[in-house]
Amino acid sequence: MVKIVVIGSSSMDLVVTSDQRPGAGETVLGRSFKTVPGGKGANQAVAAARLGAEVYMIGCVGDDHYGAAILKNFKQNGVDVTNVEPVTDTESGTAHIILAEGDNSIVVVKGANDHVTPDYVKKSKSLIKQANMVLIQQEIPEETVEYVSELCKELNVPLLLNPAPARPLSKNVIENASYITPNEHEAAVLFDGLAIESALKQYPNKVFITEGKAGARYFNGEKEITVPSYTVEVTDTTGAGDTFNAALAVALAEGKSITESLQFANRAASLSVTKFGAQGGMPNRSEVEASL
Ligand code: RIB
Repeated sequence: MVKIVVIGSSSMDLVVTSDQRPGAGETVLGRSFKTVPGGKGANQAVAAARLGAEVYMIGCVGDDHYGAAILKNFKQNGVDVTNVEPVTDTESGTAHIILAEGDNSIVVVKGANDHVTPDYVKKSKSLIKQANMVLIQQEIPEETVEYVSELCKELNVPLLLNPAPARPLSKNVIENASYITPNEHEAAVLFDGLAIESALKQYPNKVFITEGKAGARYFNGEKEITVPSYTVEVTDTTGAGDTFNAALAVALAEGKSITESLQFANRAASLSVTKFGAQGGMPNRSEVEASL
């Protein structure tokens, strides 16, 4: 069993479904409201655990009702929460999601996730040292991503960086990460106007551009490869990227080839969109293997 350490956000998703997305200054009537666990870090931790990895989460929640529910959900999914601390006087992170017209729009309020600082992560250095792969995203402070990239380099532990949501990254972080998985929009921010083809060529076998239904692209040192995704009936795309990243981390940590790992990740992500909620459709290992 591979050991995956996830450093990132844990939030509660407050999800409204509606036939119509309201414009600025407009009020529309919604159909339903649900509260479900989310946050990119937590989603990736849960997805990796369902796919058979031994998963350790490093994060923070608020000392509130949502924080307790988030911790309970981690435990129910077999994620180790020894390094997830409830922070007093700060609310848990929340994501305010509208599902309308076949897609989502999300506003994230980081709350306790801003307490995942370099000093906080440093306390778990010995755990990080034992990881087969570290997974990180960008709903935590920028300096933490910078610090973790340095730490993983120092400890010689592979780091998979999911640069979501988009923000510019230092050259240092890009160089230190072993794998980076932007979507097209994030790639434009990351590589500052560089054409995708050129960015991929600059980082062979390291940058994987995700293109939703179209699959994932990378440069193998000789040519560009596209690993196609799968066609499914979509219920909710929230968390598909997180499932992709977790599955990719698990497969690469297990020593699968890049192409095989991307196929595994695409399959897991395609299954995840067939049910409601970021974690609702995340498949377990046998479901992915049976459908590959
Ligand atoms: O990637 C999906 C996640 O992004 C949601 O669960 C929500 O919490 C937002 O952070």
